[in-house]
Amino acid sequence: MKKLLVTGGAGFIGANFVHYWLAKYSADKVVVLDALTYAGNIANLDSVKNHENFTFVHGNICDQALVERLLTEHNIDTLVHFAAESHVDRSITGPDAFIETNIIGTYSLLKAAKKVWLDGDAILDGHRFHHVSTDEVYGTLSPTDPAFSEDTAYAPNSPYSASKAASDHLVRAYHHTYGLNVTTSNCSNNYGPFHFPEKLIPLVITNILHDKALPIYGDGQQIRDWLYVEDHAYGIDLVLQNGRIGENYNIGGNNEWANIDIVKTISKLVEQEFVKNPDLAKRFPQAKAAMAQNTESLITYVKDRLGHDRRYAIDATKTNNELGYQPKESFATGIAKTVTWYLNNEAWWQSVMDGSYQDWIAEQYSS
Ligand code: NAD
Ligand code: TYD
Repeated sequence: MKKLLVTGGAGFIGANFVHYWLAKYSADKVVVLDALTYAGNIANLDSVKNHENFTFVHGNICDQALVERLLTEHNIDTLVHFAAESHVDRSITGPDAFIETNIIGTYSLLKAAKKVWLDGDAILDGHRFHHVSTDEVYGTLSPTDPAFSEDTAYAPNSPYSASKAASDHLVRAYHHTYGLNVTTSNCSNNYGPFHFPEKLIPLVITNILHDKALPIYGDGQQIRDWLYVEDHAYGIDLVLQNGRIGENYNIGGNNEWANIDIVKTISKLVEQEFVKNPDLAKRFPQAKAAMAQNTESLITYVKDRLGHDRRYAIDATKTNNELGYQPKESFATGIAKTVTWYLNNEAWWQSVMDGSYQDWIAEQYSS
């Protein structure tokens, strides 16, 4: 039986991980530590809030004393670290928060874990610090480059990816220097339920329903390798169970898509849903699909993101071979589930979108 401290558990991937974990290992204890920034939403944890082994703590990962207290009071043996500033566009206009949370925050967690697990009267056997990172630390690929492997040199290009790379290095150093039991996973772009609608996929779904422009940065030919979020949780599970201490594991879906094709695919899926379910036209009368008009006409090319990475692709051979990892969801099933989830959970996305981020994004990307 494990006792987990999950940082950032009220965010997109963290919340999906907590749902996954308590459904699969309901005897385990899960403590979530989350600062509830704009991206964190306590409602993401509604389905587990009454679980007897679940505790939510509102607090900041930079608060080392708080983290030490949580590790001690809850006898935590496994820290799964999701908390981060995660949106590349925000890192370009306001990097400070990324340096603070992603670098200083991770450093603070490492100090707390070292103090409680290694520096006390006895070293806690079997402790684990699992760091959740991104493929963006490897930089960018040309269309013909081989996918990122764990041996690809780090070459982060955005303040976001640079801050994640710095945190990966700190985690590695705490293992090498102090013997902290660490693992790191570097995952490709996730999509699925509870994804904050500033990221491409949920932004496109919600904008279609609001009859708003679908902004395509630059030429729309940038490529991302998309993974259904539950498959990320499953990959982390395998790393926690059988990953080798001190190792990095790439997690990905072998599922590369150009942005413009993702947007067209989602447009078609939403149109099909409106045909299948006439109630949708009543709920979203402004949507093009409610008037049998072409949703793709909302596509609007806008100025490119500064320093925009052209292509990400994950080679997950190591994770597949060592841990037997294979994603369970295909892109066709995962994206259909995701569209359905947003259609069924309007109250969730309306409540997290108070309007301010839409104004912010429009300002950044007006042509
Ligand atoms: P998110 O932005 O949806 O959620 C981040 C969560 O962290 C929020 O709940 C927020 O309140 C919390 N948080 C932020 N600063 C905090 C602080 N100082 N103290 C405590 N909590 C804080 O992010 P996400 O998309 O769920 O990403 C989770 C992790 O996975 C991140 O580390 C990210 O780098 C990594 N990752 C994300 C993706 C992706 O596609 N989204 C892919 C690979 C890796
Ligand atoms: P995003 O979801 O922000 O993830 P990341 O930058 O971490 O990959 O963006 C995914 C891709 O979609 C990226 O190439 C930027 C692009 N994009 C758009 O073209 N328009 C948008 O409105 C957004 C949010 C992203």
